[in-house]
Amino acid sequence: MEIFLDTADINAIREANSWGILSGVTTNPTLVAKAGHKDFKSAVREICKIVNGPISAEVLSLKAEEMIREAEKLSKIHKNVIIKIPMCEEGLKAIKALSKKGIKTNCTLVFSANQALLAAIAGADYVSPFVGRLDDIGNDGMKLVAEIVQIYRNYGFKTKIIVASVRHPMHVIEAALLGADIATVPFEVLKKMVSHAKTSEGIKRFMDDAKKSKQKI
Ligand code: G3P
Repeated sequence: MEIFLDTADINAIREANSWGILSGVTTNPTLVAKAGHKDFKSAVREICKIVNGPISAEVLSLKAEEMIREAEKLSKIHKNVIIKIPMCEEGLKAIKALSKKGIKTNCTLVFSANQALLAAIAGADYVSPFVGRLDDIGNDGMKLVAEIVQIYRNYGFKTKIIVASVRHPMHVIEAALLGADIATVPFEVLKKMVSHAKTSEGIKRFMDDAKKSKQKI
């Protein structure tokens, strides 16, 4: 299981990367806007300098030909750039064409097992089921992940599953138990994964006792 950071915030990426647990980064137009980047391509370049792993950058067009053109531009930024393509008919065309050109893709906005199946058949390297947004509308995001894991296993698809739209640490545990390849998590969720009240309590007690008994190293 690998952990990606789901953000375009350079400081968060730098900090999480320093913990030694980060394998990649995913961005989307909303996250880029939130981070306030004026120049998207230089932001991607900067992220690639920090994290040595797959960095997803999303296309902005809705026509296959344009998506392919944008993908070619983005993929020139760095060898680790993965092109995020939204699931739709034009997206499938673009994924197929890009896979023939050897440009890696991450099929995003996946909300059904059929969409994940089609993305894999088209040749997507990654597929991103949005579990949180499914939960938001009263569906079961993790049920979708379980279905995709099973379908990919049945047919030996190499497409990696990135559990996305993660809202809380339980999503990551469930994703790991189901055997998903990757969870892409917001920085706030990553921090919650590290912490535990009993750990903080234990650290405080050890520090207090060490101080009281004048221990030194
Ligand atoms: O990377 C895309 C996905 O993780 C978005 O999450 O929180 O906007 O549903 P969210």
